[in-house]
Amino acid sequence: MSRGQDKESFAITDSSKNLDEQFRELQEEVHRYRKLLEINASLQSQMDIDQLLPLIITSSSETIGAEKCLVFIYDADKGVLWTKLDERSRPLVVPRNRGIIGWAFTHNEPIVVPDVHNDERFDSTVDSKLGLRTKSIAAFPLTNRKGEPIGVLEAINKLNGESFDLKDIQFLAAVSVQIGIAIENAMLYTELLRTFESFIDVMAFTIDAKHPVSRGHSRRVAIYSRGIAKEMGLPPKTVEKIYLAGLLHDYGKISVPDEILRKAGKLTEDEYEQVKRHPLMTYRILSRIHFSRDMRDIPLIAAEHHERWDGKGYPFGKKDDQIPLGARIIAVADVFDALTSFREYHTPLTFAEAKQEIIAQRGKMFDPRVVDAFVRYYDKELDPYKIRQTIWRSQGK
Ligand SMILES: [Fe+2]
Repeated sequence: MSRGQDKESFAITDSSKNLDEQFRELQEEVHRYRKLLEINASLQSQMDIDQLLPLIITSSSETIGAEKCLVFIYDADKGVLWTKLDERSRPLVVPRNRGIIGWAFTHNEPIVVPDVHNDERFDSTVDSKLGLRTKSIAAFPLTNRKGEPIGVLEAINKLNGESFDLKDIQFLAAVSVQIGIAIENAMLYTELLRTFESFIDVMAFTIDAKHPVSRGHSRRVAIYSRGIAKEMGLPPKTVEKIYLAGLLHDYGKISVPDEILRKAGKLTEDEYEQVKRHPLMTYRILSRIHFSRDMRDIPLIAAEHHERWDGKGYPFGKKDDQIPLGARIIAVADVFDALTSFREYHTPLTFAEAKQEIIAQRGKMFDPRVVDAFVRYYDKELDPYKIRQTIWRSQGK
């Protein structure tokens, strides 16, 4: 082989190596863009921060090959940054100005530190909580639409032992913009939901306050209804809707005169007719509230809790599955609570006696499937000791 040929074959090998290298880099680039689009799509479809965080953490770590990625969220009331390592553990909390993430947050600037042990801002106390030894960090502030910091995206240690490179930084910068928007949306949504729930809670409290003997009735009915609905395997949104309808089911009693509601003796026929109007009033009043699309049948569910499976109920005399499932569930919860609570006209039954009464009405007053779910729920959670805890926890929510 001549010297010239040698040169030529070397050039060919070298150039094909470059092509391979370029092709690999291009593939990596495409992979990162695809990941970015995937993360963006998931972020837009998720409004629950607790669900959002693990999603972001896993996708980001995988894409840049980091040992761990974390999203810290700023709690303005407490002045701290917090994150959740997994769904069950308690949040990890750090002061807003401590460590490298604290610096990124307070300065509202990204920062990449190749060796944290040469940086005095590094806070090593978090390492033991994370169960790792931090070497390098890349931290990006997350901002709201006004550009104000609302959290930090942190990547810790490259798995290959190197520092975070330009491509990692570009990826983290892009993804942090999306995360900031998603977190702000989720926060606004949560705030709105809390306002809505507290408003419903006040309505339930108002109606229970009108009739002191049945104090706490609406809340207990809501809790029992939620328990039965969960036992029936209904989706979380439906369970929540039935819980809210349970809180509001007797709201129409606001239209019944106090002297009738609080009457100690037997009601006259006319008085009873007035009491029987309360489900329709519930419907009329609740129909004036703007419920989101997935909650729009709350007025109907709440208003039909006195309908019976056998069609002998009121106000419409509907039967079996003409009655919304939520209303059939609330009907069981409502009667169970009435039987086990003090009323002017009866002394309370024990929980076990009331359970038997409910079973006796299976297929008559109540939907058999709902009664079966109620019995399973009762056996799991409704003994007199556990229920106190359930209600207590719910009030502290
Ligand atoms: Fe009622």
